Amino acid sequence: MRNQPAVTALLPAAGRGERFGSEQNKILSDLLGRPILAWTLEAFAQCDDITRIVLVGSEGDSDRLWELGDQYAKGKLQAVVLGGSTRQESVRRGLDAVGTEYVLVHDAARCCITTELISEAVGATRIHQAMTVVRTVTDTLMRRSGELVDRKDLMAVETPQGFQTDLLRRAHLSARTEGFIATDDASLLRRLGRGVHLLESTTPNPKITYAADLLIAVALLTARTAPQLVAPLPSE
Ligand code: CTP
Ligand code: MG
Repeated sequence: MRNQPAVTALLPAAGRGERFGSEQNKILSDLLGRPILAWTLEAFAQCDDITRIVLVGSEGDSDRLWELGDQYAKGKLQAVVLGGSTRQESVRRGLDAVGTEYVLVHDAARCCITTELISEAVGATRIHQAMTVVRTVTDTLMRRSGELVDRKDLMAVETPQGFQTDLLRRAHLSARTEGFIATDDASLLRRLGRGVHLLESTTPNPKITYAADLLIAVALLTARTAPQLVAPLPSE
């Protein structure tokens, strides 16, 4: 993308993966012969709309993250930054290493991301200055009290989320000053009354949270890399 402002992919990967249940950080666990994170890195490296990649990792993982960058990031890995105790703090620290006009924040654990969805997210970011990928909810939903919630009013919020970088920096600063913590970045902007464009996606983009989620990722990635091994989807 010549003559377009550059975009950095900021990938928080400094979690502990407690729900996943492995000893090491889940993003280093094997998925079809390479670490989960390698799939995420490769998708961003292959996307021409992404200029650089900043990884946020835990202290002990730093060498391994650089190695994976050398192997899968096609020379785009710019920095490995030490993360914090929450995802929000990890992203805030990562932002210090971002030097481009725009930034796309994406959970390292969403390893089935496609280059097409990344490009769509970059396009929406350039137009709207702030965007998030969302998905309609298909399950019936209720509160723990038993009260049903109308799913027509709800969206599941995913990543990538894209921003004009200084806008996101200001939102993080304000949240930090006021002790506000959220599990995503778009919420920090919305809290300041700032509109966030919703890019509705139907492309599967699961977050590896529990070990069983790997089965879904295996199916999705195999369908991409060796489609003859998975049953064809029903035709219209
Ligand atoms: N993350 C991070 N820094 C943290 C916590 C999370 O960079 N302090 C990252 C994770 O590595 C992951 C993404 O944010 O790529 C989404 O977080 P989540 O799926 O909750 O991962 P974990 O926090 O590792 O898992 P858990 O909550 O089960 O411990
Ligand atoms: Mg977590």
